[in-house]
Amino acid sequence: MKIDLSGRNVLVTGASRGIGAAIARAFGEAGARVGVHYGARRGDAEAVAANLAHAVLLKADLADPGETARLWDDAEAALGHVDVLVNNAGVALQAPLAAAEADWLAAWERTMAVNLTATGLLCRRALAHFEARGGGRIVNIASRAAFRGDTPDYLAYAASKGGMAALTRSIARGFGKAGIVAFTIAPGFTRTDMAQEFIDAYGEDFAVKDLALDRLTEPGDVAPTVVFLASGLADHATGATIDINAGSYVR
Ligand SMILES: NC(=O)c1ccc[n+]([C@@H]2O[C@H](COP(=O)([O-])OP(=O)(O)OC[C@H]3O[C@@H](n4cnc5c(N)ncnc54)[C@H](OP(=O)(O)O)[C@@H]3O)[C@@H](O)[C@H]2O)c1
Repeated sequence: MKIDLSGRNVLVTGASRGIGAAIARAFGEAGARVGVHYGARRGDAEAVAANLAHAVLLKADLADPGETARLWDDAEAALGHVDVLVNNAGVALQAPLAAAEADWLAAWERTMAVNLTATGLLCRRALAHFEARGGGRIVNIASRAAFRGDTPDYLAYAASKGGMAALTRSIARGFGKAGIVAFTIAPGFTRTDMAQEFIDAYGEDFAVKDLALDRLTEPGDVAPTVVFLASGLADHATGATIDINAGSYVR
């Protein structure tokens, strides 16, 4: 089976680093034109785009709904049209219950803004665009935390990812007749900057202990499944969640 996405346009949020960068590279290898979105790390995003045959750089702070809406406009303007939206950008902010309530709430609200509200807004724009074009595909990068739950310091993170999963399922059920399919990816612990804080604090052995496999999941272990789901070869699995967690949470 060969996946050839030449002529297809893909917007990947949070493509400057980690899982998003690997997803952008994998789409590039499949021949797609990639909108490489970044928030703050322009240099990293430039490095990702430089290795792709067809890429455009797109900047937006996804904590800001105005910038998020503009990102979609910029993507359409730069790419002509969008075939696939991958909502990957996210934050995992620690918010202990013992923190002052205002600090806890600020972390909750920022987490929801970036992980859930921005995803909702981009899906809303994508749905209108895809309906007008006769179809499109959405892949939302949630987390194992959406289903297993997370630790008490990351209640907002798990709740935001649960919201993403429910959003994705609703889209799959509501828009299939319009030719639109939607999938959730639920990665477990994956070696990126987001995971590094945990690795630094507890050590890699602690993270690997939970796994059925013998090494930590890398961004490159997640990216191929995203490209497969976006290719059209899995459309009848619309609404499905794919767990990519090295067997750490089998359900
Ligand atoms: N790593 C894991 O263990 C793991 C596990 C399960 C799920 N996930 C999910 O996988 C996705 C990618 O995670 P990762 O580990 O690759 O994270 P990462 O290495 O921390 O990268 C996060 C990405 O999101 C972007 N981003 C963050 N806040 C943003 C904002 N306000 N505006 C615009 N962009 C923003 C960053 O852009 P800039 O750097 O340019 O600011 C960066 O490209 C996330 O949704 C995460 O929740 C990760």
